[in-house]
Amino acid sequence: MKQDNKEYMENNLSYDLNEQSLISPLDSETSLFSPKIRLGILASGNGSNFEYIVKSIENKQLNAEISILIVNNPKCLAINKALKYKIPYAIIDHRDCNSRYEHDMLVKKKLEDLSVELVVMAGWMRIVGEEIINSFKNRIINIHPSLLPSFKGVDAIQQAIEKKVTITGCTVHYVQKEVDSGSIIIQAAVPLKEQESKEKLKKRIQSMEHIILPLAIAKVAKNIRTSFMDNK
Ligand code: GAR
Repeated sequence: MKQDNKEYMENNLSYDLNEQSLISPLDSETSLFSPKIRLGILASGNGSNFEYIVKSIENKQLNAEISILIVNNPKCLAINKALKYKIPYAIIDHRDCNSRYEHDMLVKKKLEDLSVELVVMAGWMRIVGEEIINSFKNRIINIHPSLLPSFKGVDAIQQAIEKKVTITGCTVHYVQKEVDSGSIIIQAAVPLKEQESKEKLKKRIQSMEHIILPLAIAKVAKNIRTSFMDNK
């Protein structure tokens, strides 16, 4: 691991380190901004990324508040984490909607009603429509478990294993209409290990996700605050 990466993580983050992993760019220690950014988190799964965002806020590494966690699945484990940390949440089940558009509009309304400034797709397993993307232009980001532009779409970790790549990782990027294609904000590279199970690799990738997602949020939030000042 590059020395400055390692030092940065040891000094600033209490997460498990993946030896030999690399985060780039790592300029986010300067991503300070004020006032707090209001986040809306979208999740469909276990909510580990959501939990690390909460921890980063609690540790004062991220000057943010979570206005709402929105899940599309009532059985999603992220809900338990919202209950644990007393974060407001909403279940907007896509199966209760007649169309993707109807679901998107309910999600968009909820985010707008709460004056969310930055939308974070933290394991949101749905394609978001143009209405949400246009309402939150440059203010909606996604985390994906590969080094984009490689391995877009579903089961990116399996795709990487099947291609026998030697390095994979995770990416935080802006969301645009084409899936997993927006500008890249920050990436972490994770070398594969021989004979390693997919589950273990996934764990190592996710431990890097837990580091880069809060860093990316800080970076984008700083941009949002800076452009607000520029327009004054
Ligand atoms: C994360 O690994 C994230 O990269 C992935 O879902 C997982 C959610 O985990 N997202 C995608 O694959 C989106 N295409 P979590 O619920 O524990 O945060």
